[in-house]
Amino acid sequence: MSTLSIVEPSIAIRLEGVSKRFVLPNGEPFEAVRNVSLQVRSGDIYGLIGTSGAGKSTLLRLINRLEQPDSGRVFVGGSEITALGKRELRAARQTMGMVFQQFNLLQNATVFDNVAFPLRIHGKWASGEIFRRVRECLHIVGLSDKIDSHPAQLSGGQKQRVAIARALATDPQVLLCDEPTSALDSETTRSVLDTLRDINQRLGVTIVIVTHELAVVRALCRHAAVIERGEVAEELALHDPQLSPRTALGRELAQQVAQADVRDELARLEAAYA
Ligand SMILES: Nc1ncnc2c1ncn2[C@@H]1O[C@H](COP(=O)(O)OP(=O)(O)OP(=O)(O)O)[C@@H](O)[C@H]1O
Ligand SMILES: [Mg+2]
Repeated sequence: MSTLSIVEPSIAIRLEGVSKRFVLPNGEPFEAVRNVSLQVRSGDIYGLIGTSGAGKSTLLRLINRLEQPDSGRVFVGGSEITALGKRELRAARQTMGMVFQQFNLLQNATVFDNVAFPLRIHGKWASGEIFRRVRECLHIVGLSDKIDSHPAQLSGGQKQRVAIARALATDPQVLLCDEPTSALDSETTRSVLDTLRDINQRLGVTIVIVTHELAVVRALCRHAAVIERGEVAEELALHDPQLSPRTALGRELAQQVAQADVRDELARLEAAYA
């Protein structure tokens, strides 16, 4: 077998046989991610779904090496993330924004300072450039008027949009989102999903999103992987009419997609006859 690994430009993220073990408090090893191989195409929105404890967050964090794999290789945008030294990894992480369930904003800082944070820690940005970039990112997420607010003055959806603006600050190719809408009500969820879709379409940013909400996957993703006990149980192309899932979660998702298609068809018919 060849050890040469060529990553096509159309592939944004590639995992090759990635595994991650943790040591449990009782000293036993526990394999949270087992020999996972998958690829995410450039410009895709890719969902990771699975029950609690399946290994979704660990898998996501292996992509930007917030978790160090025990074996396997990770490629992002053609560079092998698993082969990088500390300094190179810091640079590579600028190409990957991250969004968390609990927003993780600095409470005592303004919206401006929160979004400027990733630019300031890298030290190579002049203050005028930082100002321009922060304003640009706040414009993308529709929060230009909140630049001087503090997180406590914002709604949950606004906080998450600030977090998305912060993730975009370094102009990443990839956005890694861990349950970004799980702390939000359904209406706010829709608006945050609209923002993510817009970022994907207008900026071409590849998105990987971990969620336990099938409605989120249905509304946003083109592909998804069902994760079970640390493994990819199956991958689904959501708009494939031949969609024939093997897992229970995959079947549930397919059913939701079909129902949504019927609703869309009805809406189109109603519009045609209105
Ligand atoms: N730092 C750690 N130390 C020990 N075990 C861990 C650690 N991080 C995760 N685990 C274990 O690995 C497994 C997978 O965790 P992970 O957080 O990836 O799951 P998840 O699919 O994201 O779950 P959830 O939907 O609840 O967020 C779980 O059993 C978890 O307890
Ligand atoms: Mg998780």
